Amino acid sequence: MTTQSFWIESAAGRPYPVLTQDLEVDVAVVGAGIAGLSTAWELVKEGLSVAVLEAGRVAEGVTGNTTAKLSAQHTMIYARLAKSAGAETARLYATSQTEAVEHVARTAAQLGIDCELERLPSYTYVESEDGVEELRREAEAAAEAGLAAEFTTSSPLPFPVAGAVRVDGQAQFHPRRYLLGLAEAMTARGVRIFEGTRVVALDEGEPCSLRTEGGAVVTARDVVVATHYPVFDRAMLFTRMKPHRELVVAAAIPAGADPGGTFITTEQNTRSVRTAPYGEGRRLLIVTGEQFEPGAGGVGERFDRLAAWTAERFGATEVAYRWAAQDNHTTDGLPFIGPLHPGARHVYVATGFGGWGMSNGVMSGLLLTDLIRGRQRSWTRLYDPRRLHPLREAGPALKMQAAVAAHFVGDRLGTGPADALEELGPGQGAVLKVGGKRCAVYRDEDGQVHAVSAVCTHLGCVVGFNDAERTWECPCHGSRFGVDGSVLQGPATEPLDRMELPDAEPEHEAAG
Ligand SMILES: Cc1cc2nc3c(=O)[nH]c(=O)nc-3n(C[C@H](O)[C@H](O)[C@H](O)COP(=O)(O)OP(=O)(O)OC[C@H]3O[C@@H](n4cnc5c(N)ncnc54)[C@H](O)[C@@H]3O)c2cc1C
Ligand code: FES
Repeated sequence: MTTQSFWIESAAGRPYPVLTQDLEVDVAVVGAGIAGLSTAWELVKEGLSVAVLEAGRVAEGVTGNTTAKLSAQHTMIYARLAKSAGAETARLYATSQTEAVEHVARTAAQLGIDCELERLPSYTYVESEDGVEELRREAEAAAEAGLAAEFTTSSPLPFPVAGAVRVDGQAQFHPRRYLLGLAEAMTARGVRIFEGTRVVALDEGEPCSLRTEGGAVVTARDVVVATHYPVFDRAMLFTRMKPHRELVVAAAIPAGADPGGTFITTEQNTRSVRTAPYGEGRRLLIVTGEQFEPGAGGVGERFDRLAAWTAERFGATEVAYRWAAQDNHTTDGLPFIGPLHPGARHVYVATGFGGWGMSNGVMSGLLLTDLIRGRQRSWTRLYDPRRLHPLREAGPALKMQAAVAAHFVGDRLGTGPADALEELGPGQGAVLKVGGKRCAVYRDEDGQVHAVSAVCTHLGCVVGFNDAERTWECPCHGSRFGVDGSVLQGPATEPLDRMELPDAEPEHEAAG
């Protein structure tokens, strides 16, 4: 079994250089996921000079670890939007998402990118009768918003459903094949892409300037922060956004067993299904689910549950790939795409895609390019990060902040498989108290102990151990760190401090 995403394994990207010298461009895009690359592509078509600064590799962030359904059907969003914000908001949402889906299809065709784009119906389904009424409302709201949506009691899944919303004309694709092709096309037009180039500072002047970890300075009239969780957050969007981590397993099935659609249910802690081309006579069944808060632990067991469900429902017992990723969910269910904060004139953000970043990422490119060029679309204001809807957001925001406050005081202290350092087995990690400090301790397979500070370098929450991926994860805003403390995923830009363990056995602090 491979623990890397199928998308990354099946589409190798060519390397791009590290930025070592200062640079001046019209627009600097920070982050080369679907949001950053889509924006860079739209900008270069406008004749602007563009640099893309990527901390890791192109399309290997969340975008390289997605499920890649390309759809305007986003689980149950339309009934919720129509109720909380009105039918017009739901209609604008549907219009903008549909435009993004069609934009990918057009762009891939124009550029001749073979990204295995397949058109097919998408389904949100329930197995329990209890969920049927809600689904009927969703079908009505989605149809009223303009989608080809209908309620049905039949589906091509190999198990019975109590009801489903079917939306025709949706798609699925290979996200990296699409984005690697797009990256090639934009470099041919003059976009400069840099990998291994982490941005660590932003000065919002006129022009703006960005500083990279290596010390290079990029000067740009406009800056787009497309780093998934924003690394620069003067609007404190982190008070209105929460990461959810999800797991993915993939297994080969006979081509004849392909249900021929994309499927999702929120039951059983989310199950999302699609297939992808996988050689002669076979398809790769890709199943996503088991949402949890980063750092919550028990990840190995969650993977087992997802694999067991895949075997039981599809007879696919040989897991060929498994991987994980997380996305950010906002308090009102709409992404934040637009000026980074109320005073921002030249800095923009795209984040909070709520598990639907394929269409939202592409839509971000269209929206932000318009803003930078001084244009608006009918749906631009829907996504403005400066919106704050007290009625829609107050409850969820308060809940989110209460949870975050708990993580600041360290509710994870003491969780983990060991009672003390000596009991920490190979491959295990735990947060221990050492000399009054919170210490994230991991023992590798050779028995060597690695100790780093357990205090997240973003805003100081206490990290938790992911036993399946062997990483430290922050529950507050989703920063992830290697067992050596290195940053794997932001918003943190600084590593966890290394710590020396004294000879004396550390005290294992009680939870609380
Ligand atoms: C398991 C899972 C399944 C999903 N399935 C679907 C689906 O089927 N359909 C759908 O529409 N959506 C899906 N999503 C959501 C979608 O994958 C994401 O919303 C989307 O990929 C986010 O794209 P992004 O460009 O914002 O982030 P990323 O792809 O993470 O790109 C951000 C980039 O910024 C870089 N970066 C970070 N910090 C810095 C820095 N300081 N300097 C420079 N670069 C930096 C990172 O290295 C990264 O490459 C899924 C999400 C998950 C977790
Ligand atoms: S990610 Fe914000 S405190 Fe850790």
